[in-house]
Amino acid sequence: MEVRFLSSGERDPSERVLIMTKHLLALKDCDRSLLRALVDRALALKREAAGGVRHKTLAGRTISMLFDKPSTRTRVSFEAAMYGMGGQVIHMSSRESQLTRGEPLKDMARVMARYVDALVVRTYGQEVVEELARYSDVPVINALTDLYHPCQVLSDVMTVLEKKETLDGLKIVWLGDGNNMAHSWIEAASVLGFPLTLACPEGYEPDAAILEAARQRSEQPITLLRDPVEAVREADVINVDVWASMGQEDEQEQRLRIFQAYQLNAGLLAHARKDALVLHCLPAHRGEEITDDVLEGEHSVAFDQAENKMHIHKSILEYLINS
Ligand code: CP
Ligand code: NVA
Repeated sequence: MEVRFLSSGERDPSERVLIMTKHLLALKDCDRSLLRALVDRALALKREAAGGVRHKTLAGRTISMLFDKPSTRTRVSFEAAMYGMGGQVIHMSSRESQLTRGEPLKDMARVMARYVDALVVRTYGQEVVEELARYSDVPVINALTDLYHPCQVLSDVMTVLEKKETLDGLKIVWLGDGNNMAHSWIEAASVLGFPLTLACPEGYEPDAAILEAARQRSEQPITLLRDPVEAVREADVINVDVWASMGQEDEQEQRLRIFQAYQLNAGLLAHARKDALVLHCLPAHRGEEITDDVLEGEHSVAFDQAENKMHIHKSILEYLINS
């Protein structure tokens, strides 16, 4: 009897599937060498692309994108990555699919896997990508859930490495909501082995179980603070994100009041190191989590981050589809 191993190490309940399928659902499922290899490959692809080299390593391959939430960067950068490497893309929102009429995810996964070489999914529940992965014979890639945004954080780590050449000795800070991005940064820190400092308002901390598991895994401290000034002091890298994520629109007003002290403005940034990087995964709400002058200023690498999404997506697709 042959067993398919999932990224989580779960066994397929039917125990009759032949293939070892890799997925990218959460960074905690990956090991350090894989994350470094994905980032190194993306950096090499970016350098080579600047010199006019185009790899067509996904020629003849097709991915399907299943998006339940809005997206500009992730959607277009995955599509550009796939077409750029010679492949093709089929985009679908679940509103257009039979999922709206109650077709089970497990049926959807098994059908889609017969048409395409990978599924790129943006949705609400992490359990949706996990269920798809459990039944899909092709890789499932998490393109953002309420719990995680792993591909984004890989492009962010790539951006830090591109600018600073190392993660060693850096003070890397997460400022604001303990959200999906914070969770993936926490897991990146625990797998890659760098210290991470977070500052979040009371009641908006990261998920306690994710934090605890990461601390168990990590050889470096993952520190949760309340005070944004203390967090930002002598920082080398500061990450910010919206205060109300997709799906939390009805909390927007309340969050605007609660998060005010966490706004990254010139005053707060002055506590960081002179060569600090400011990262924002975008979209940004100027005047809320970040001021216009900081987002447009010399410390901001937000638009390089956005570009790097395409390079990291090439690296991820190539690895998951071709190896
Ligand atoms: N950063 C990011 O995921 O942007 P989109 O929501 O536009 O895809
Ligand atoms: N935390 C944000 C990230 C957007 C890319 C959200 O989930 O809306």
